[in-house]
Amino acid sequence: MCGIVGYIGDKEATSVLIEGLSKLEYRGYDSAGIAVYDNGGVHVRKYKGRLNVLAEHLKQETLTGVVGIGHTRWATHGEPSDRNAHPHTNVAGNIAVIHNGIIENYMKIKEWLIEEKGIEFKSETDTEIIAHLVDHYYEGDLLAAVNKAIEKMEGAYAIGVICKDEPDKIVAVRKDSPLIVGLGEGENFIASDIPALLKYTKQMYLIENDEVVLLTKDGVTIFNELGQQMDREIFHVTWDAEAAEKEGYEHFMIKEIHEQPKGIQETLLRRLDKDNNIVLDGIKLTKEDLENINKVYIVACGTAYHAGLVGRFAIEKFAKIPVEVDVASEFRYRDPFVDDKTLFIAISQSGETLDTLAALREAKRKGARILSVVNVVGSSVARESDDVFYTWAGPEIAVASTKAYTTQLIAMYLIALHMANTKGTLEREGYENIISDLKLMPEKVQKILDDYTKIQHLADAQFNNESVFFMGRGVDVNVAHEGSLKLKEISYINSFAIAAGELKHGTIALIDDGTLVIALATQDRLYEKMLSNIQEVRARGAYVVGVAKEGNTEMEKTADIVLYIPDVMDELSPILSVIPLQLVSYYIAVARGCDVDKPKNLAKSVTVE
Ligand code: F6R
Repeated sequence: MCGIVGYIGDKEATSVLIEGLSKLEYRGYDSAGIAVYDNGGVHVRKYKGRLNVLAEHLKQETLTGVVGIGHTRWATHGEPSDRNAHPHTNVAGNIAVIHNGIIENYMKIKEWLIEEKGIEFKSETDTEIIAHLVDHYYEGDLLAAVNKAIEKMEGAYAIGVICKDEPDKIVAVRKDSPLIVGLGEGENFIASDIPALLKYTKQMYLIENDEVVLLTKDGVTIFNELGQQMDREIFHVTWDAEAAEKEGYEHFMIKEIHEQPKGIQETLLRRLDKDNNIVLDGIKLTKEDLENINKVYIVACGTAYHAGLVGRFAIEKFAKIPVEVDVASEFRYRDPFVDDKTLFIAISQSGETLDTLAALREAKRKGARILSVVNVVGSSVARESDDVFYTWAGPEIAVASTKAYTTQLIAMYLIALHMANTKGTLEREGYENIISDLKLMPEKVQKILDDYTKIQHLADAQFNNESVFFMGRGVDVNVAHEGSLKLKEISYINSFAIAAGELKHGTIALIDDGTLVIALATQDRLYEKMLSNIQEVRARGAYVVGVAKEGNTEMEKTADIVLYIPDVMDELSPILSVIPLQLVSYYIAVARGCDVDKPKNLAKSVTVE
């Protein structure tokens, strides 16, 4: 939930750290700070608020050193404040630490440090114990001291440490929180994520769990948990810094919404050969494997979970295998029925979501085979899976997930179709029809995007609503959930989604004059029933926005306004029907003056439980 950066080289560290942190603000942004070795000492500057607050201070309180560490925070222990901001230091102020993650046993260590060493803590954070522990073990060798300190620490963390007495070093550690090393000429870097370093280098080392890294300006040494030196292949990043910039759009979110035709195309075409066969190279799901599987579990969080719901629909429909879908934070606490006959599918954009990772490990421990659908190459979820289906959405920066979701849908359809083909549950003709329709998705999505002004006007008229209901039937309910999440997270409107058939069982009590209801009706066999549900809410005064396929114009008689999606087979409609919902959410949030890319209280990558 926090972002860390470190630099050692010949450049002024401050500017490299601020630049790197600006690319990590999506990971947390309630405070930011840096520690730089300068003029014979370690100097810390840290402030509550966005990164620009720190950057403004640094104009007055300049630091010119060439070694430093930086942090952007999303509070877990202790309120957002100057004193809780990172870096944290030991009592003498000569060891500074940045940390992303949680030290679970910090209270025990803190009590020990207070009772045995009489230390007075300056912050309420778990992180501060690391600085004091490293200090406790320090005998002139920072690497050795950090190694001893981490033996005492339980939890998930990526840390970076510098020390006044060894100004030519940064020591970093990764345990269950992301960490990469950037390699330069006469300079080296650490960071939580690749975009932070792209301005400086495209050569990276992906650090594995439980590894400790020693950086100097001229070299990087990686040690495993046993202290053995590890060889690591250089990971060459193929996308450039520009891809992570806004390219003229007002927000990353709208840029990413508009990138969906490309993301869908890439994800799809990389997995289809010239005869329309699905090529899941590297993914070993043979006929025998599938015959051995009697159940599929899909586990994820938030938007990725909603993609999982559509995945269930597709796998059950095409491959006829029973599927359970669970939110990752619940999965491992309910002793799920998972064994070596289970295929466990984890879906995650970042590949670093702690709950998803923990669920994956639980399923693995119980013998399940792990397939993950992941966007970030080399991320933890990807590395811990037996097979990985990479989506090709490109870097997603806006906190609200959009293009990752639609590429996750494509991935789930392809997995379902591959299973169906392998098991023989789908005729070739039916399969070909689905593939042809899938191939048309990029242009159909583009068509909806081109017609955005109608949605913009709707948003301008409706942005003042304080509660919004989404409803649908069949697979439309799954999309309704995603639309509702998108709206609430970026506009702070109290929205929720419901199966339209459930309305009469309670929720209809909340429908009043002017209540905004967004009704999805893209499923042919459920269309009439949806029209009835729309009439029910309109009779109670609701303002209804319908979402229907082109041609289904009767809806105009019942709904106040209809947003059309291009005609599509019912099974694939989620790929299209979510697009108007993303646009509605975006334009409503803009009309309300919200910080669309960085909604309050949210972070892009949730690497704590
Ligand atoms: C919502 C959103 C979150 C994420 C969720 C899982 O727009 O972005 O709900 O979908 O935190 O994140 P990943 O996919 O990175 O595991």
